Order: sequence, then C-alpha cells, then structure tokens
Amino acid sequence: MRRAIYPGSFDPVTNGHLDIITRGCRLFDEIIIAILINPEKKPFFSVGERREMLTEILQQIDRGACALRVDSFEGLLVQYAVAQQAEAIVRGIRAISDYEYELQMALMNRRLEPSIETVFMMPAEAYSYVSSRLVKEVFLLGGALDGLVPLLVEERMKKKIEEKPA
Ligand code: PNS
Repeated sequence: MRRAIYPGSFDPVTNGHLDIITRGCRLFDEIIIAILINPEKKPFFSVGERREMLTEILQQIDRGACALRVDSFEGLLVQYAVAQQAEAIVRGIRAISDYEYELQMALMNRRLEPSIETVFMMPAEAYSYVSSRLVKEVFLLGGALDGLVPLLVEERMKKKIEEKPA
C-alpha cells in the first residue's frame, strides 16, 4: 500500500494540480490532497470551501485504482505525513524557477524526517505556466480562465466576487 501526501494551498485548485494528481495516481495506491491551514495568509477561499471544491472535482478525475482523499493540516508537513502513515510527499515542478524553493523544502523535510521521500512530478507542458496566484490575478482583472481551472472553480470565484460587499 503506497500512500502519498500532495500538500499545498490549492487556493484555488488548478488544472495543473489535477494533472499532477492524475499522474500521481499511476505511482501510488492512495493520495491525500492536504490543504495547509495557514493563519498568516488571507486566502481567496476558506479552507472549508477549498476542501468542498476539491472533493467535488476529484470525483471526476481519472484515478484508476487510486484512492483520493481531501484533508487539511496545520504545522509541520512531515509530522502530518508520518501521522497519516504516508511514505512520500508529491510536489509539482513547472519550471526551473520552482526547483530551487522545492529543493530547499524537500531537503529540509528530509532532514526533519528521513523516512519520507519527496517525489517531484512535472505537469503537462500546457500547465507549465499555470499557478493559483496568476489564476486569481487574471480573474480579478477580468481575464478568461477556461482551460486553466475546472469550471466549478471559475463559477465559485464569480460567486464569491458577487457576494463580496462593495
Ligand atoms: O501550494 P504551496 O503554497 O506552494 O504549498 C506549500 C506547502 C504547503 C507545501 C508548504 O508551505 C508546507 O509544507 N507547509 C507546512 C509547514 C512546514 O512543514 N514547513 C517546513 C517545510 S520545509
């Protein structure tokens, strides 16, 4: 039984994240998509909203025999991974610019918990420039998001803006 954690902010989940999850499903029996609870950041979507969206979206993903679970965590990622009896952390790397930060985190996590292996995966080229940060920026400036995020995410983003007091 090979269990991996795919941690992140997922604010919001993009098609790039989903591509990594699909690829991860070819390597692992179970992937826990773990949303970081970060009280220091002011997110677009609450952790509860992100959990709900991810759970709904993952129902449509091509997962083979892989089990997918959505969770949230606080504190050290490696402690959470050990508690979940996972053996690996999956992280997507889009470009060389991601690599430096990801390498630092992977090596720090290895120092903290040598039993957990970090696995870097590359998304499809079509998603190599897609990030949650840019998705939010494009959306807030009125740009189109089709192909970048699932339709449900775009709908929820529109709803959120409509609900926001002026
Ligand atoms: O999607 P993100 O924001 O790039 O994800 C970053 C994340 C959640 C993987 C990272 O911030 C993290 O692991 N935070 C938990 C705290 C922790 O373990 N810090 C030490 C990492 S070296």
